[in-house]
Parts: sequence; structure tokens; C-alpha cells
Amino acid sequence: MWRCPLELLLLLLLAGESALGARRGRGRRELAPGLHLRGIRDAGGRYCQEQDLCCRGRADDCTLPYLGATCYCDLFCNRTVSDCCPDFWDFCLGVPPPFPPIQGCTHGTRIYPVLGTYWDNCNRCTCQEQGRWECDQEPCLVDQDMINAINQGNYGWLAGNHSAFWGMTLDEGIRYRLGTFRPSSSVSNMNEIHTVLRPGEVLPTAFEASEKWPNLVHEPLDQGNCAGSWAFSTAAVASDRVSIHSLGHMTPVLSPQNLLSCDTHNQRGCRGGRLDGAWWFLRRRGVVSDHCYPFVGREQDEAMGRGKRQATARCPSSHAHANDIYQVTPAYRLGSSEEEIMKELMENGPVQALMEVHEDFFLYQGGVYSHTPVSLGRPEQYRRHGTHSVKITGWGEETLPDGRTLKYWTNCREEGYGACDNS
Ligand SMILES: *[C@@H]1O[C@H](CO)[C@@H](O)[C@H](O)[C@H]1NC(C)=O
Ligand SMILES: *[C@@H]1O[C@H](CO)[C@@H](O)[C@H](O)[C@H]1NC(C)=O
Repeated sequence: MWRCPLELLLLLLLAGESALGARRGRGRRELAPGLHLRGIRDAGGRYCQEQDLCCRGRADDCTLPYLGATCYCDLFCNRTVSDCCPDFWDFCLGVPPPFPPIQGCTHGTRIYPVLGTYWDNCNRCTCQEQGRWECDQEPCLVDQDMINAINQGNYGWLAGNHSAFWGMTLDEGIRYRLGTFRPSSSVSNMNEIHTVLRPGEVLPTAFEASEKWPNLVHEPLDQGNCAGSWAFSTAAVASDRVSIHSLGHMTPVLSPQNLLSCDTHNQRGCRGGRLDGAWWFLRRRGVVSDHCYPFVGREQDEAMGRGKRQATARCPSSHAHANDIYQVTPAYRLGSSEEEIMKELMENGPVQALMEVHEDFFLYQGGVYSHTPVSLGRPEQYRRHGTHSVKITGWGEETLPDGRTLKYWTNCREEGYGACDNS
């Protein structure tokens, strides 16, 4: 306990020193004058003029922010040339600058020097000679044209801008936001389990697992920019099923990170993985809770060696002590019969589904999603897809304006994604 005040003192001392450093800024200015080799270049920038600032002699606080650095409007800067604001000569001395003006580019109300850059969503624009911008031409994950086309096209769902996706390229979205490998033929040929409907049995038109099992169906975790949906969807379905089947005696949120870090055989962590491998690991090795082994967004070396019921290692999180290991019974494959999937969900809890995610899915904001043809007329790099896996928690149906019934699956609370269509 006694160490605390000492550390505090140390911090104060450090802070004091850096304040001193700032006051001695002039020294730095003299020693390393070359902010830019030939002085500050920002064609047409208004700095001294903007603030009506011209200082006599040497005035170390006669400065203005300049493109992430500082420039001066005092006469002293005239000696080194290099740290005067661009309009210093013109505005303060009334003489032309001692170097030829260079051309910049304008964007909005700002003027950028040659090689200056700004970001236009996912593309970087660079100022070239002759005031010309040159921008990368990558398809972006959030694409305003696609949003408009979807919203005007009456596809039954609403598109919009997810701020977490803004600035990412479509390629990055496919690479970092999904993360399930297509199952090998040995998995897709695995025997199906058939749930038999009783003769005359009628399933409800809508069902939501969290209504049947309140508090036993967990909120989804956010996988961020980790292409690890294989671990997230498996841990999510297993968490719900452990809770439901134990009748609420255990309600763990199982750790996707435990899978990402420790299930490494033929798996690639945040670069994708296989569902059969994840279920195998959950059955044979088991995982601890997310509280014990929280998500860090990448693979890490924290082995959780397996004891009988508890891990042999302590929780990576220093706040958690319970390192119980949870294991599950073998996973099984359901057939593609809609009713059998529904009955399974209703009797045993959420199920896992593979889905092919296309470029438009990243814009989903509400309604019943189905892949739209809005990118069909565009170059191929705008039409991308990748395999994802999700937890399905229920189903429903809605009547379309033309009287047809549209059935859908739900994974209502997966962040950014809502209902998924059923066709
Ligand atoms: C500042 O520099 C300009 C150009 O080099 C020169 O013409 C002017 O006389 C200088 N002014 C002072 C006050 O040193
Ligand atoms: C999308 O959202 C981001 C972040 O909230 C925002 O900066 C951007 O301007 C938005 N883009 C459009 C086209 O609305």
C-alpha cells in the first residue's frame, strides 16, 4: 500500500519535466530548424493572417497549428526560414516568400500541400502536382450508392451506414468480419439427425428462444475485426445449450477466445476456422467462461491446460477466479428440412447455421434480409462473398403486400445483423 503515494509522486515529477520541456521549445527550434526542407509549404494557407498575428523580435508563443506541427509568425523565424507560417512574408513583411510558391490541392475549405492526403471513406486521396487529387479506387464496405439502391428497390429490408464499417474496404470486410471455412465433404456428408414431427403436429408461426428460456439465451459477443465467427457462433450456441439443458443451473458465457487461442489444429484463429473442429474441441477439451478468458481480438499464448473439471492454469483475466471447464456432448448435423430445424430449435435451443455473406449484408439495418441484385451491373470486385456462421434463435413470418407469406429465421440480437431470410 505504501508504494502508491510514491508512484503518484513519480508521475507528478514526470509531468513537471515534460512541462519544462515544452517551455524550452525554443531550444528545439534552434537546434532542428528544418520543419520542412525548404520551409513550410502550404500554398495559399492563411495562418498569421487568419489570427492577425505578427510578433516583433522573438516571441516563442507567437505560433499557430500547422498541419500537425507548429509554425511561427514572429520576426525571429525569418532567420531560419524553415518554421515561418506560409503567409508570414506576405502578411507580416509584405515581401514574397524566399522560395517559389508551390501548388497545393483544395478539398473542402482546406488547402493541402503536394503529397498531402485525406481519406474518402476507405480510399486515400493524395495531392499531386498541378493541384490534382489522386484517390485509390477500392470498393468500400459502406457504399452510399448501394445503400440508396437497396432502399429504393423495395427488397424488404433497410440498408444503412454502420459506423464500425465506415472506412473499411469491402475486401477487409470479407477478410476480417466473417471467418468460417466451408465444411469439408466429410462434414457435409455427416449423418443427419432427424427429429420426427408427430402426425398432425403444427409448429407455431413464430418462435423466439429467449422467450421460451428467459435468461438462458445469451446476448451475442462482438467479434470486432477478428475473422473468428467459427469460434463465436460455436461458443454462443454451446453457451445457450449448456444453460438450457442444465435447466439454468449453469449459465456460462463460453469463451470464444479460448477457442481462438487454444483450438489451433487446422484452425486459423482470427483468420478463420472450421465448425467441426470447434465442436470437437468443446467436446474433448472444453472451454472456460468468457469472464475467465476474455476476448482480446487476436490469438494469444495462454494455454488453459485441462484438469478434471478445472483448467490447470489460472484465468488470463485477473478479475476472474472460477476456471471451470465446460464440455458439451457431440454436435450433430440437422437435415435441411425447415420443420425439423424448427422443432430442434424449439425443443433443444438455438442452432448454428452457415451462411454465405454478400457485399450488401454489411449494410443491413432491419427487415428480412435477402441478397439483392444491386451490384450485378458493377465490376466484379464489387461483388464479393464469404462464409460466415451464426446462431439462429427463432423464426417468424410476415405477409407481403402481394399477399405472399415470407418466412424467416432470426438471430435478432447479433450486432448489426437482424433477421435472415429463409428462402
Ligand atoms: C526577412 O527575410 C526576407 C526575405 O529573406 C528579407 O527580405 C527581409 O529583409 C528579412 N527581414 C528581416 C526583418 O530580417
Ligand atoms: C457513416 O458513418 C460514419 C461514422 O459515423 C460517418 O463519419 C460518415 O460520414 C457516414 N457516412 C455517410 C455516407 O453517411
